[in-house]
Amino acid sequence: MASRVIPVDDFDLVIFGGTGDLARRKILPGLFRRFCAGQMPPNARVIGAARSNLDSDSYRQMVREAIGEFGGEQACDDAHLDAFLARLEYLVIDARGDDGWEELQTMMLGTDRIEAYYFSVSPVLFGDIAERLQKWGMADSRARIVVEKPFGRDLQTARALNKTLATYFNEDQIYRIDHYLGKETVQNLMAVRFGNMLFEPLWNSQYVDHIQITVAETVGVGGRGEYYDKAGAMRDMVQNHLMQLLCLIAMEPPARFAPDAVRDEKLKVIRALDPVAPYHIVRGQYQADPENEVERPGYRTAVDNPKSRTESFIALRTEISNWRWAGTPFYLRTGKRLAARSSEITVVFKDTPHNIFGEDAGRHRNVLSILLQPNEGITLGVTIKEPGPGGMRLIDVPLDMSFAETLGDDDVDHVDAYERLIMDVIRGNQTLFMRGDEVEAAWAWTDPIIEGWEARNDVPKPYDHGSTGPTDATDLMRREGRKWQKITQ
Ligand code: BG6
Repeated sequence: MASRVIPVDDFDLVIFGGTGDLARRKILPGLFRRFCAGQMPPNARVIGAARSNLDSDSYRQMVREAIGEFGGEQACDDAHLDAFLARLEYLVIDARGDDGWEELQTMMLGTDRIEAYYFSVSPVLFGDIAERLQKWGMADSRARIVVEKPFGRDLQTARALNKTLATYFNEDQIYRIDHYLGKETVQNLMAVRFGNMLFEPLWNSQYVDHIQITVAETVGVGGRGEYYDKAGAMRDMVQNHLMQLLCLIAMEPPARFAPDAVRDEKLKVIRALDPVAPYHIVRGQYQADPENEVERPGYRTAVDNPKSRTESFIALRTEISNWRWAGTPFYLRTGKRLAARSSEITVVFKDTPHNIFGEDAGRHRNVLSILLQPNEGITLGVTIKEPGPGGMRLIDVPLDMSFAETLGDDDVDHVDAYERLIMDVIRGNQTLFMRGDEVEAAWAWTDPIIEGWEARNDVPKPYDHGSTGPTDATDLMRREGRKWQKITQ
C-alpha cells in the first residue's frame, strides 16, 4: 500500500553541524528519501553549516557518500540523487564568532520561504547560535529551530537552556526532538488507544495488572563513550524516550489531536509520577563479550574509564498517582549489549475475577504487546480452548497484527523517525515535539533518582554481553509475582 505524500511548502533548512554524525546518518539521508518520495518541493534548499573548511561541491560529495552508506534501500536512482544534491549548499560558519553569518544572512533574507534551523551541534552552542540568528536578523516569525537531545543534564541546566532559547524564540518556534515520537508505532499507539472503543474501558488500574516498557539494544556505546559516560542510560534513554512512551500509554485522551492538547496530557502524566525508591531501581554495566573482547569490549573499556559507575542498563518500577493508574506498577527497562534489539510496550491485564474452569486450567491473562522495533505490530494474547477432545484445557494464542504483513511492506517500516519529524517542522506541527515544561518535568522526576544513587555511591551490577541485564532486574519483577517479557527479535 503506497503512502499518501503531501508535499510541504517551500523551505530553506540550515543544518548547523551539517558535517556531523547525525547529519550524515539521519538528517541528510532522511531528506533525500523525502525528496525521492516527492514530498520535498523542488525549490527547497538545504544549507549545511559547520566549521570544516569545505566548499559546496565537496560538501555535496560528502553527502553523496553519506547517502550511499546510510541511505538504506529507499535511496532512489542517480538522477534523483544529482537533483537532490543540487539543492545543497555549504557554508563555513563559526558558531561563536562572526565568520559566515553575513553570508548566511544574504542567503536567507529576502525570501518568503519557511526557514528552519537545525541545531545538530553540542548543546553548549545552542545559545550562541540562537543569539547570532537574532543578531543577524534571522530569528523572525518565519523561523523555527530544531534542537536535539540531550536537552540539559538535569532540571537546572534544562531550565537555563529553555530560558536562553526563549530570549530569542517563542515556544511555538522551538522544536525539541525526541526521535522516538517520530517512530511509526509510537504514533500508532495513539491511534490504537484513541481510535478504538475496545481498549479505553479497560485502560485503568481496575483491569490492568501492570505495564512494561522495554527498549533493548544490542549495540554498545560505540564511539560515544565520552558523552555516554557522563549521561548513562537514565539520562540517555529513560528521561526522554522511555518517558515519552510512558506518557503516550498512560495519558488521558486529549480533546483533539493538536500540539498543546496532546502535550498538556503528557505533562500531567509526568507530574503525577511517583518518586522511585532505591529498591525499585537496578543499574547495570555490560561485560566484554568473551568471544571477542576487542570488537565487543566491556563498558568500562569502551568508555575508557576503569572506575566508571555509569549505568548502561537500568530497570525501575514506578507508579502514577492519579485516578486512572493509582496502584498499577509501570516497569521500565533499557540497556545496551542485550540479547536482541527489541522495543516493546506490554500491557498485562488482570486475571478474570473468578476461574470457572478450576485450578487445573491455570492462570491465563490477556496481554497486549505493542512492538516498536525492529518489527512493528500489535499482538493481543487471548485465552481459548485447546482444540480437540479431552476436556476444557485452556491455551493462550496471539491475535497478531504485523503491520508489514497486513499493510504491505512498501512504506510501513521505511519512513525513518527523523524524516517524518523534519517534515513536521516544515509543516509547523509541534504535536510530536517536546514542550519546554515537559522536558523540565521529566528532569524534575529524574534528578532525585540520580542524586539518590550518587549519594549512595551505588555501583552498577555487571551483566553479560548478550544477556537480559543483571539478575537483580529479574528479581525486581519476580518478588512481586511478575516477570518481564522475553527480549527476542
Ligand atoms: C539515542 C541514544 O537517543 O537513541 C542512543 O542516545 C540510542 O544511545 C538511540 O542508541 C536508540 O535509538 P533507536 O532509534 O535506534 O532505538
